[in-house]
Amino acid sequence: MFKILQKQELSENITLFDIDAKDIAKKAEPGNFILLKIHEQGERIPLTIADFDREKGTLTIVFQKVGKTTYHLGTLNEGDFISDIVGPLGTPSHIENLGKVVCIGGGVGIAPVYPVTRALKHAGNSVYSIIGARSKSLLFWEDKMRDVSDELIVTTDDGSYGRKTVVTVPLEELLKENKDIKLVVAIGPAIMMKFVCKTTEKYNVKTVVSLNSIMVDGTGMCGGCRVDVGGESKFCCVDGPEFDGHKVNFDLLMERQKMYLEDEKEALRIYQEKVGE
Ligand SMILES: Cc1cc2nc3c(=O)[nH]c(=O)nc-3n(C[C@H](O)[C@H](O)[C@H](O)COP(=O)(O)OP(=O)(O)OC[C@H]3O[C@@H](n4cnc5c(N)ncnc54)[C@H](O)[C@@H]3O)c2cc1C
Ligand code: FES
Repeated sequence: MFKILQKQELSENITLFDIDAKDIAKKAEPGNFILLKIHEQGERIPLTIADFDREKGTLTIVFQKVGKTTYHLGTLNEGDFISDIVGPLGTPSHIENLGKVVCIGGGVGIAPVYPVTRALKHAGNSVYSIIGARSKSLLFWEDKMRDVSDELIVTTDDGSYGRKTVVTVPLEELLKENKDIKLVVAIGPAIMMKFVCKTTEKYNVKTVVSLNSIMVDGTGMCGGCRVDVGGESKFCCVDGPEFDGHKVNFDLLMERQKMYLEDEKEALRIYQEKVGE
């Protein structure tokens, strides 16, 4: 059992938990994720380790309420327990001093890009960061991202905060102005990562993305998280979740993400009916 030590509502529909999980925190690295089950009969869902404190033995997760399990998770409070957490899972981010890098977080993707950005900064890189969301009410961790970046650009689709544009526009400006950018890391919705990759391809800049395919066991056994990278089948849970974005078949990823859409809608409807929402 894992105790929730702190709960914070970061924005509309996005919640943060600090969880007491000493053994996982001890081994966590940027890029890792966990699989959690709220209770014995619950479904397992993958969530990125958005932060960790090895001394306190805590993990931070940040999740967006999108369906049955994440809505249920959002009803838990400080002092409540999560029955199972497995991790750290996945291959950690490759961190080295390359010179100039760009880190991009879109929507709830701001949370998983944060530990990678911090590690790249600590490794000595000059870090330009771009965070974007549909609207101001969905943005969070601007200060945390600013603390680990040399420059931070904020965008919103509707112009309610920062620049009224999408993240690929300032990205292209940075790539034009700085011919020596060596790496772009992008985490967010698949469609955002696809267009980031299309932009960086033109400038031939290596781009790492973190894929959110549907996962079941998280250990490479079930094949549920299969993605196509450079024409080869890879398992997102063990080979990733980070991959060379220029090789990812994003259209297949997006198609596979929708595979259980009708069942997911029905599960949420039944859950909301049960709890009277
Ligand atoms: C490696 C990885 C890291 C992730 N990190 C985060 C994170 O830090 N914060 C966050 O908010 N979300 C993260 N996600 C997505 C998160 O797992 C899904 O939002 C969650 O599983 C939705 O479950 P649900 O029952 O609430 O919604 P559902 O209604 O069941 O699903 C809504 C959508 O979520 C996705 N999804 C559903 N079940 C799974 C599953 N078992 N595995 C993966 N995706 C699923 C599908 O695209 C689906 O259409 C991550 C996904 C992966 C693969
Ligand atoms: S989640 Fe089963 S193989 Fe990756």
